Amino acid sequence: MELFKVYPLFPLNFVKAKGAHLWTDTGEQYLDLYGGHAVISIGHSHPTYVKKVSQQLADIGFYSNSVQIPIQEQLAKKLGELSGYEDFTLFMCNSGAEANENAIKLASFHTGKKKIICFTKAFHGRTAAAVAATDNKKIIAPVNETDNFLFLPFNNHQSLEEAFKNHDIAAVIIEGIQGVGGVQIPEPSFLQNIQSLCNENDAIFICDEIQSGFGRTGQFFAHQHAGVKPDIITVAKGMGNGFPVGGVLISPKIEAQFGMLGTTFGGNHLACAAALSVLEVIETEQLMQNATLMGDYLVNALKDLPGIKEIRYQGLMIGIELNEPCAEFRKALLNNYHILTGNASCANTLRILPTLNISTKELDEFIMAFKELAKLTVLS
Ligand SMILES: Cc1ncc(COP(=O)(O)O)c(C=O)c1O
Repeated sequence: MELFKVYPLFPLNFVKAKGAHLWTDTGEQYLDLYGGHAVISIGHSHPTYVKKVSQQLADIGFYSNSVQIPIQEQLAKKLGELSGYEDFTLFMCNSGAEANENAIKLASFHTGKKKIICFTKAFHGRTAAAVAATDNKKIIAPVNETDNFLFLPFNNHQSLEEAFKNHDIAAVIIEGIQGVGGVQIPEPSFLQNIQSLCNENDAIFICDEIQSGFGRTGQFFAHQHAGVKPDIITVAKGMGNGFPVGGVLISPKIEAQFGMLGTTFGGNHLACAAALSVLEVIETEQLMQNATLMGDYLVNALKDLPGIKEIRYQGLMIGIELNEPCAEFRKALLNNYHILTGNASCANTLRILPTLNISTKELDEFIMAFKELAKLTVLS
């Protein structure tokens, strides 16, 4: 059997990883400034993570949600403490799309309504409701087409207010910072307006923190920079540092009922051990503070260089918009300097999502490469 070919692949086979570095089967070293789409939060193969997951596997790896799994409660408690959402409850699942699918379903169950507001350039995943809230027609199959999702222009107050006037809205879903869309940051006043309109209209405010959460922006969640409190927050990616895990944080105003949501693998012992170790390391190594410092360090070093139109960032969620498409530049970074970076749905934006414990020394490698390539007119 061959693989179903849906991914264009780099000719790289990584066999070892540590911190912000990866090594191929031929022993070549690479600097990872992308973390496999914002997944590697505390660094590849962090010793605390390896120890905790290995120990858990040796004890018990899995049993279903039909029995007590105390490590789920430990995780929920720690997540509440670190995020400031101690009064919320946690539903665990396995991926970002699944977290959003459950969040949308929950909002609809709770309100009894079905119209969902979402935004231009949004990406929320590939399952039925998550993909219907995603602004990319190419990945919406005919079976997923529905008029329950209203797409509005991002950061546009007027269209938001009109949509609430003209429709009975169940929920608004917005990313803490749009990732795939090219690191587009919602204005604080826009998030505040969403919160007020949801409260006034018995609608649920869902914030997708799958890429922007777990400390990446210097706060636990990106929306906390705007001082808002959503009703539902979705998490995945950095939550497990590579172990597949997702979660839905749910306001106390939404009541659980047996059978309302469910999953076989969600919340398994191994996933909880992985996520707990991530939280422990974020706390003990002060990685949120490091994300703020390192983000500022990198952006200060790059901001006046030629070839850059704009840098949008919060902490270590960084979008560098070039004056031209970034594909050649990314290729040169990879081939000439062994540096992995990401792209976005807008062709000119380079996405930089390093591990949260990245150092100035590692960022200097990228800054030097950037300056050299700018001189070589890979950038004009
Ligand atoms: C903001 C956001 N939401 C949801 C998802 C979907 O997550 P997953 O690929 O784990 O289903 C992604 C993935 O890139 C994302 O960036």
